Amino acid sequence: MADPVAFEEAGSHSPQHPSSHLAAGGPAPLFPDLTRDDVFRLETPRLWLRWPRHSDTAAYRAFAGLKQVAEMTGSWPHPLPEGEVERRIFEARKANATGTSLVLALTPRARPNHQIGVIAISRGKLPGREQDVEIGYMLHPDLWGQGLMIEAAQAVLNTVFGYTAAPAVNAWTRVVNPASRRLLEKCGFRHNGSALRDLPARGGMLPCEAFVLDRKTWAALVNWRQSAPVPPQSGPQVDVVPGATASGPANAQGAQPGRLIRRDAGLSSGGVIPPGGA
Ligand SMILES: CC(C)(COP(=O)(O)OP(=O)(O)OC[C@H]1O[C@@H](n2cnc3c(N)ncnc32)[C@H](O)[C@@H]1OP(=O)(O)O)[C@@H](O)C(=O)NCCC(=O)NCCS
Repeated sequence: MADPVAFEEAGSHSPQHPSSHLAAGGPAPLFPDLTRDDVFRLETPRLWLRWPRHSDTAAYRAFAGLKQVAEMTGSWPHPLPEGEVERRIFEARKANATGTSLVLALTPRARPNHQIGVIAISRGKLPGREQDVEIGYMLHPDLWGQGLMIEAAQAVLNTVFGYTAAPAVNAWTRVVNPASRRLLEKCGFRHNGSALRDLPARGGMLPCEAFVLDRKTWAALVNWRQSAPVPPQSGPQVDVVPGATASGPANAQGAQPGRLIRRDAGLSSGGVIPPGGA
């Protein structure tokens, strides 16, 4: 299970990346310089995705500390020990800076300082699968079911396939997690078998399902989305703040794949990530 911000076991040399090089004693970068600066942003119709910060600690704890969130992950303990969130934010920033992972906080566009979720791309954690690239995510339960994580996942997947040489992205879900399974299927992942996986924070081996999205399928989906008519938006904008009443439409269907805000372009401009990369 690719939990967001579980990097202790992650990382090893990637022979596929053209600019791969081993930093002294550390894992090779997966991501290019572009994402390795904390001004890096992704923009989606309703969200900003940015690096997690120490000041996110309370908001991060507000969802990662909930049983219904933690129990679907393999590495997030419940209850959360003191200092756990701060430690993970530090680890996430380190992994982002070295390019070995990409961990982004989800924030509403209207409140970019308020974290509502997290999404991460990291290396495989199973022995012999360290070259795999895995996705993981968590969202505040007050905001479930509005298509927000699909929106975030599409933007992040575009970044992975656009800016790394990863041939595929893998995912694991517990068999009791239909929301995650559905999300993956809607992003184009296909079922890739079932297995017992060691989920240390859940107390041992539990049945999980594997999913994979390969580069070819992703490219076909991007082309399809670009050629499909975008349904007109109707109704009020969903207020993507935990605790707020969600009165607007879930807009996963019309969700754009995400705009990349280049670190040298400021926050007001950006470029759409091209299907084959920059
Ligand atoms: C998984 C998770 C991130 C999904 O976030 P989300 O923003 O609610 O997801 P989305 O709304 O984008 O998509 C979820 C899809 O699953 C569906 N779904 C939700 N709960 C479901 C259930 N119990 N059974 C079947 N489908 C379900 C939704 O209807 C939606 O599909 P739709 O767009 O066709 O209606 C969120 O549930 C979460 O944080 N869960 C706890 C942590 C977790 O499971 N992380 C993943 C570990 S592998």
